[in-house]
Amino acid sequence: MLGSKKKEEVLPVNEALLNVITPMGLEIKRNSLVIGENLGKVYGAIRYPQKVDMGWLSKITNIPSTIVSVGITPIDNGALISAISKSIVQQRGAADSAKDPLTRQRAEKAAEDGERIMQRIDQEGETVAMMSLTVMPIAQDDANFTKVCRRVESAFNIQKCKVRTLANLQKEGFQSISPTYPANSTVDSIVSRIIPMSTFVGGFPFASSGYNDGRGYYFAKDSNGGLVILDTWERGNDRTNSSFVIMGVAGIGKSTVVKHIMLSEYMKGTKILCIDPESEVRHEVAQQIA
Ligand SMILES: Nc1ncnc2c1ncn2[C@@H]1O[C@H](COP(=O)(O)OP(=O)(O)OP(=O)(O)O)[C@@H](O)[C@H]1O
Ligand SMILES: [Mg+2]
Repeated sequence: MLGSKKKEEVLPVNEALLNVITPMGLEIKRNSLVIGENLGKVYGAIRYPQKVDMGWLSKITNIPSTIVSVGITPIDNGALISAISKSIVQQRGAADSAKDPLTRQRAEKAAEDGERIMQRIDQEGETVAMMSLTVMPIAQDDANFTKVCRRVESAFNIQKCKVRTLANLQKEGFQSISPTYPANSTVDSIVSRIIPMSTFVGGFPFASSGYNDGRGYYFAKDSNGGLVILDTWERGNDRTNSSFVIMGVAGIGKSTVVKHIMLSEYMKGTKILCIDPESEVRHEVAQQIA
């Protein structure tokens, strides 16, 4: 923690937050949940398209009346390449021995897709990660619930993704969506997919649309070269809070941006609480402040 706290402050209870993390009651059914006054259903994303457009992820993570959780785990490129390489050999073998044209074509296509991704990782230095995405539509009555569920399914279909209800895993799915629970291995085994990091990073709208408050912090350039300058304290329209996430491929400068913001905010007198499991900030920023 940076900044010293002189005396214990008594903070008022945040009732809205309390309602979300401790609902009045929780009933778990095979294919749905009753969470306090709401009905919910946890879906897992089980298929993504080969090619995606800029901002594709924002279209499936900003559906009204849904709560979404996206997990990203870095994986070892070397292990992945040998796994893909093995699978290409298998698919080529299957294509050669296939008796009907449909099976042969599918196996050839799978081998070609494998070769394409192997080339991106091995020769073009693309980093990959394991991504898992769960989404939970919520509504207060049956009619709206059915509508929201349909909207989720069609929003995923439009992006050529596919969701599946986590049957008999609603409890585990609900836990995986909750920010207070660690990842669940059963849910992960169903929803984890390998994805190039750049596909994930380009999935959110900052990459495609200009964002400039005219004051605040310079974050990046968008795909058209426009500056992304954000005043994180700005309120109004869709800006209801100051939460933000900084994403980027390894070594691109994420930590540097965060450290700059922390220092500037510290100068302005903002109280800073830093959760820093790797003690990265502790060593660097604390030294500069001291
Ligand atoms: N705007 C910049 N111009 C030049 N060098 C930079 C810039 N931002 C960061 N760097 C340098 O790039 C290196 C990596 O930066 P940083 O550690 O912030 O990246 P990161 O995205 O947090 O990496 P990781 O994914 O490993 O956490 C550092 O040596 C940093 O000093
Ligand atoms: Mg970093």
